[in-house]
Amino acid sequence: MVAKIISGLEVSAAVKARVKKAAEELKETGVQPCLATVLVGNDPASTTYVNSKQKTASELGIATRDHRLAANFKQHELVELVQLLNNDQHVHGILVQLPLPSHINEFDIINTISPFKDVDGLTPYSAGMLQNGMAVLKPCTPSGVMELLDYYKIGVSGMDAVIVNRSNLVGIPLALMLLEKNATVTVCHSRTKGLADKLRAADLIITAVGNRQRFTLAADMVKDGAVVIDVGTSRQNGKLTGDVDFEAVKQKASWITPVPGGVGPMTIAMLMKNTVTAASVAKGMNQ
Ligand SMILES: NC(=O)c1ccc[n+]([C@@H]2O[C@H](COP(=O)([O-])OP(=O)(O)OC[C@H]3O[C@@H](n4cnc5c(N)ncnc54)[C@H](OP(=O)(O)O)[C@@H]3O)[C@@H](O)[C@H]2O)c1
Repeated sequence: MVAKIISGLEVSAAVKARVKKAAEELKETGVQPCLATVLVGNDPASTTYVNSKQKTASELGIATRDHRLAANFKQHELVELVQLLNNDQHVHGILVQLPLPSHINEFDIINTISPFKDVDGLTPYSAGMLQNGMAVLKPCTPSGVMELLDYYKIGVSGMDAVIVNRSNLVGIPLALMLLEKNATVTVCHSRTKGLADKLRAADLIITAVGNRQRFTLAADMVKDGAVVIDVGTSRQNGKLTGDVDFEAVKQKASWITPVPGGVGPMTIAMLMKNTVTAASVAKGMNQ
């Protein structure tokens, strides 16, 4: 079997087209959707991500605020900035780029973001709403994965899904989203025993480790016809790569995401979708 490709480029283009239309419709009613990004320090990867979020927002007709702060910016100053953005009625989404420098408590900052402007879907409020099946703003990468599955009509109901990641950014929200769609979910991590056996039994594998030396999804860990989603990103000899031995696994899987061009473009598209959603919810509340 040779896997069909799940194209994040194609699906993200479709999502962005819908977002652009929604932004235009909001503007016609007098609401200009606006995303504020906050970057502390000058980590090259984080800078690239923020630049890309700013650029995509502009392309879709979403206004932006761009806060770039020195690496030694203090925790209380960052709390004050987030509170300011919370109270600014022209701002609908607040994105604090992670990771933050080690002197800043990430949880405290995320917890300061208004749940109504939590376009990254990472506040404890959003996490609780997701657990209750009530979330409006969901974490971008997991909801991007769900959008990919949905677009290609890959029904997960009844599937045995194995996620290799247990972070609040990827694995935990994804497990909840898959459970909501009636998959049976196993969440694995660095201490999981017999990982290869668990993977071999899976109908759906979602891997997000991001370190090929520590973990590579090889073909002998994948059963024939499994669906394979690669969220991991790392660099090998300067080249962007995922967790999956793509060429070998492609010969066994039924569907597979490439890296680049798979989950990556979805994350930004879902952030834009969350921003227009937050703007339209705010419009409803202000009427
Ligand atoms: N494409 C995108 O848009 C996008 C978005 C978000 C993240 N990512 C990528 O996804 C990856 C994960 O991101 P993250 O923020 O969730 O990072 P993270 O918090 O470091 O999570 C990595 C996960 O991998 C697990 N792990 C590490 N070594 C392992 C091993 N040998 N076997 C099994 N599991 C192992 C870790 O287990 P422990 O919990 O036990 O440490 C952890 O759960 C990164 O490559 C990141 O760049 C991509």
